[in-house]
Amino acid sequence: MSVNPAVAVIVVAAGSGTRLGGDIPKAFREVAGVPILEHALRGVFGMRREAQVIVVAPEAFRGDAELILGHAAGDASEYASVVTGGATRQASVAAGIAVLADSVRIVLVHDAARALTPSTQFDDVVDSVAAGGRGIVPGLAVADTIKRVDDEERIVETVDRDELRAMQTPQGFPRHALAQGYADAEEEYTDDAALFAATGGSVAVIPGDARAFKITTPWDLNRAEHLLRPEGGERIRVGVGVDVHAYDDNAELWLAGLLWPGEAGLAGHSDGDAVAHAITDALLGAAGLGDIGTMFGTDDPRFAQARGEVFLIATRERLIQAGFGIENVSVQIIGNTPRFTPRRAEAEALLSGLIGAPVSLSATTTDRLGFAGRGEGLTAIATAALRQRH
Ligand code: CTP
Ligand code: MG
Repeated sequence: MSVNPAVAVIVVAAGSGTRLGGDIPKAFREVAGVPILEHALRGVFGMRREAQVIVVAPEAFRGDAELILGHAAGDASEYASVVTGGATRQASVAAGIAVLADSVRIVLVHDAARALTPSTQFDDVVDSVAAGGRGIVPGLAVADTIKRVDDEERIVETVDRDELRAMQTPQGFPRHALAQGYADAEEEYTDDAALFAATGGSVAVIPGDARAFKITTPWDLNRAEHLLRPEGGERIRVGVGVDVHAYDDNAELWLAGLLWPGEAGLAGHSDGDAVAHAITDALLGAAGLGDIGTMFGTDDPRFAQARGEVFLIATRERLIQAGFGIENVSVQIIGNTPRFTPRRAEAEALLSGLIGAPVSLSATTTDRLGFAGRGEGLTAIATAALRQRH
């Protein structure tokens, strides 16, 4: 490593996640489409101070961990590395300590499972270790009444909760004292603070953050999902639409919402605007609202000769009512005529205005093959992406 950070963060992600269940280790399960480990690393790489970042992963998931870490590290990849973990959390932390850079003076140990821990919590721990020269753990006051019970679950006493703190991570320590503690430890401790204290170190608590909760059970995983996708959270849905019309030399050409003087027109119940119809089908399909025929009735006299924009405007309104927003639409036209490129920008601007979202258009021919190549008709294929509010 050619960088010399004074801080290191060891992110332990080598557990199996027994309580969560599932086929893959917990840190590689996804929340809102992103692995838990990557969420955790977003918090790490949002730190104010530069830090060596060591991810401790299960042997079989080292490759995955490297990809995720590379993605989160971006231009800071020189700071980042992956090592293989051990059978216990403590062994996994020890594997991280073994590869600390020489320059490191303060070490933070963080559970990947505390995926939503804000960067400020890392900064606060570093600052407090730097100021006090002792171990620092973030902790939350305990809200529940806590009782001590005996072997038969009988209440023995109420514990004064003012004296209690629920421990979180990252837990921070002066590097050499932590390394020494790990070298001296002869038993398993529940967290790094316990090990550090048992081997003679002093540890103080600073206020934690509710978002730093540990994802342990399926309930926690779902909770994290909801916190990341609060009200107004969105899902993307896509749809495809295809429309084909035969050329009709006696009709005027309406295509992509524009009139094309002097060009062969398209036959159809409405104006034959294959681009507008394909977009309509793509939008309705993405929303699961059927297609242009079921929505507007292909035989309905009200739509005889109707302009393509009539369908687009009505579809947009229908989507809004159903809770969808349009993200974008892309259309390809396949046919010999008209020559589309000169009016592409004009058509894109018109259609984008009609649906209230970017529409991009392209055109191609088929090298004289098939009905398009023989000049018998024109095809439009549209893809639409929608945002759906929860
Ligand atoms: N951890 C680790 N190596 C182990 C065990 C745990 O690196 N041998 C890590 C986990 O990946 C997790 C953190 O320690 O980020 C906290 O542990 P925990 O929440 O208990 O995770 P798991 O041990 O994976 O889950 P479970 O106890 O339900 O199996
Ligand atoms: Mg565990």
